Amino acid sequence: MQQYGQFIGGEWAPSSSKRTFDTQNPATGEVLATFPQGTRDDVRRAIDAAEAALPKWRSTPAPRRGELLLEAARIMRVRKRELGELVTKEMGKVIAEGLGDVQESIDFLEYIAGEGRRLLGETTTSELRSRFSMWVRRPKGVVGCITPWNFPTAIPTWKIGAALVSGNTVVFKPASYTPLCVAKLAEVYAEAGLPPGVLNVVTGPGSSVGNEIVENPRVRHVSFTGGVPTGIDVYARAAKLLKSIELELGGKNPVIVMDDANLDLALEGVLFGAFGTAGQRCTATSRLIVHEAVYDEVVGKLVDRTRALKVGNGMDPKVDVGPVVSKEQERAILDYVRIGLEEGAKLLVGGEKLTGGAYDRGFFLEPTVFEARHGMRVTKEEIFGPVLSVMKVPSYEAAVKVANDVEYGLSSSIYTRNVNLAMKAIEVLEAGITYVNAPTIGAECHMPFGGVKDTGNGHREGGWTAYDIFSEPKTVYIDYSGALQKAQIDNAEY
Ligand code: UN1
Repeated sequence: MQQYGQFIGGEWAPSSSKRTFDTQNPATGEVLATFPQGTRDDVRRAIDAAEAALPKWRSTPAPRRGELLLEAARIMRVRKRELGELVTKEMGKVIAEGLGDVQESIDFLEYIAGEGRRLLGETTTSELRSRFSMWVRRPKGVVGCITPWNFPTAIPTWKIGAALVSGNTVVFKPASYTPLCVAKLAEVYAEAGLPPGVLNVVTGPGSSVGNEIVENPRVRHVSFTGGVPTGIDVYARAAKLLKSIELELGGKNPVIVMDDANLDLALEGVLFGAFGTAGQRCTATSRLIVHEAVYDEVVGKLVDRTRALKVGNGMDPKVDVGPVVSKEQERAILDYVRIGLEEGAKLLVGGEKLTGGAYDRGFFLEPTVFEARHGMRVTKEEIFGPVLSVMKVPSYEAAVKVANDVEYGLSSSIYTRNVNLAMKAIEVLEAGITYVNAPTIGAECHMPFGGVKDTGNGHREGGWTAYDIFSEPKTVYIDYSGALQKAQIDNAEY
């Protein structure tokens, strides 16, 4: 079993902390590796390394920066099976999704590498004669990235790829459930030729490592994906430093099924959206809002199909739903099941921890469906587990009202054959992403990703909006008139 230090200045350096933590397979309890419980001092050394690497990296032509990212993508393609298996072993999602996590990383790197040849600014007119106006992008400097465990290679790669192609250097804190995936990513980038210090990884708790990244004024920007309470804490701490922050937080994503929908298609989508990744996606389908005319049919089939899902170790390709990531997460999800029951939601299927045999070594929960009334906590709060609440509505208008009446706004979906309703839903659903006749999960890397309301603070990862986050516009005026021209004063003449 491997013991890691902190990845600082291109090598695994010892931590100033004597304390360590283990990363474990949530399906078996096997310890996979040991990492340091990093300190504020570790972060400061990582910032030193990132600052030292910054001038050369910033002045490396962006297409060249992109080439290195493309090389990292190539290495990931070669190592896709090994990395995908590691995702499954460290985080628990089934192997098809573990490989998908790595594929999403490859896709993003291939996309963003090409952006090294664009990183578009704009030129425009000037109100003065012989004056050229444009804006170009400049890197922010040393940036901090803090990521969750549910996409242990894809979300880190979205951030690292966009930050690096834009010319920043990075101090990275992975989630403590999945540091090994990020350690392997750091090795892939180093093998691709990334200069030492350009990407640094510090493991450990949010209270030391995370807070130092957020509070150190030498870190110019922080990109954070995680839960709302931590996001608010990060935002509040950073506000005192007027630091630029990007937050990508939770979701309570609805699927609306209308009376004219292709019900079998809708059912497939709901099962994948609700129970894929054991419901541990911020895009997971956690609310199913069904028109009353088809409600009984949808719910009947849904219960049967949910009961038939095979739960187990994600390395077994026949398994549909893997374990949840940890004991704490398991407890939090079971607490929500209890809360649902106390509120009077009707448990249609699931709700229990699975026990006996191999189940006793991991954190396995039954996929769960509640029949709920809108307004219950299980219909409003993010559960981040395999728990779906189904609600009956009399009309499209009622469905939209329920869909929008939550504090989150990440993903949303409508199943209908009525093009007018589909188009109206795109207009009115309060979410950063709307799918028509497809589940709430499955975003592609070259499209903006993020949400409205409590889901974030107005930024979008993915697409070229990703490098908006990691660059500053620099506005440039070049006066070639040879005379002093005064804006707002000399432009009155024709
Ligand atoms: C997340 O759950 O935090 O659309 C990210 C999806 C994935 C990304 C999810 N491509 O579900």
